[in-house]
Amino acid sequence: MDLKMFETEAWAALAAAATDDPQAGFRYLTLCTADALQRPQARTVVLRQYADDCRTLTFHTDVRSPKWQEMAANPQVTVLGYCHQRRLQLRMAGRAECYAAGSDIARSAWRELSQHTRQTYTGGPPGEARITADETPGTNAVEAGESRFGVVMVRVSVLDACQLQRNNNRRALFRYSPDGELQGCEWLNP
Ligand SMILES: Cc1cc2nc3c(=O)[nH]c(=O)nc-3n(C[C@H](O)[C@H](O)[C@H](O)COP(=O)(O)O)c2cc1C
Repeated sequence: MDLKMFETEAWAALAAAATDDPQAGFRYLTLCTADALQRPQARTVVLRQYADDCRTLTFHTDVRSPKWQEMAANPQVTVLGYCHQRRLQLRMAGRAECYAAGSDIARSAWRELSQHTRQTYTGGPPGEARITADETPGTNAVEAGESRFGVVMVRVSVLDACQLQRNNNRRALFRYSPDGELQGCEWLNP
């Protein structure tokens, strides 16, 4: 297999996961940030969209969560995924752009969310001690969730793809310009 084909397969696997198929290999990715003390922080997020032309991954989050502040202070992030079916690991380094309530991007993404998903944003601040009992939020509470809803877009600048298959292990590095153009690539020792 040539490098170009390996690259195409890797991005195609991400594109396939950015549909509503919860079983897709790269549907759940690990988003890694650095906190204020430069400690690594990692958490699972759902891949909502993938834009092939600019190599951008889109996630949704609560702007009150620590990761939001972490990315505001340091937008350099790593996104990690592993697809068991393909035996493929994708490690992507990039820059996070955060769009809070009031931005066109957050507003249009919120409009697309189901009522059920909007409820995710009606609770207390993520990570803080729970102080209210569980109850079904009213319509107003659900709509108030919009002020806490944020969109994170990660522009990938480096893709490290590693596939471990019996007798056919391969690993390659791909570098991209800010507008998603391939700038260099090479095979690496796995
Ligand atoms: C299966 C699964 C999917 C998740 N998807 C998201 C997501 O899309 N966005 C998000 O902000 N948190 C998501 N979470 C919760 C995060 O992993 C994390 O616990 C939360 O966002 C708080 O992260 P932080 O304290 O590092 O900011 C998900 C958790 C699980 C278990």
